[in-house]
Amino acid sequence: MLVTCCGPERPVYRPDPDPGPPPAAARPVTARARPVTAPAQVQTRGKGVGLTEVGEVWVTRCATCHGLQGRGDGTSAGILATPPRDLANPHWQGSVTDEHIARIIVEGSGAVGLSQTMPANPDLGLRPGLVGALVGLVRELKIPADRWTPMLVGPPSR
Ligand code: HEC
Repeated sequence: MLVTCCGPERPVYRPDPDPGPPPAAARPVTARARPVTAPAQVQTRGKGVGLTEVGEVWVTRCATCHGLQGRGDGTSAGILATPPRDLANPHWQGSVTDEHIARIIVEGSGAVGLSQTMPANPDLGLRPGLVGALVGLVRELKIPADRWTPMLVGPPSR
């Protein structure tokens, strides 16, 4: 029973006719892949490609084999005939051009004279800006020579 006996200043319960959306904290959190890195280089190389998109491509299409930080420890890496190298390796980073990385992304590892293990992504060939952003992301994985140490798993020199 609603009480109205004691003057208008007493609080009276009236249900809000339009409670509106639930508070943000109560809304379900959708699982969204977050960008691995937010490097400034990606923005210039990627020519306007959203960081979230390049991060999602990395997480969904690359990190399965390469690992989130590119160290060759993705969940599928162990079953590959040729394991992926450590992309953080500064010596490897210094030995390849951006064009080489862009080509392997679009055409696969066979196209650059390596094994056939890494698949091509022909659809990305139509998205040069996105490929550029991926190249930038791969570059950001580099660990400077004074801090890099080889991974304990995988081929030691890669
Ligand atoms: C099926 C697993 C797999 C997926 C998915 C994959 N890669 Fe690879 N990647 C490899 C393997 C294996 C190698 C090493 C090939 C070799 O050395 O013969 C490689 C090599 C590379 C290299 C190094 C090339 C070099 O000179 O040694 C880069 C850079 C690279 N991948 C980037 C990517 C990016 C970016 C993506 C996502 C668009 C991706 N890869 C997706 C398996 C994969």
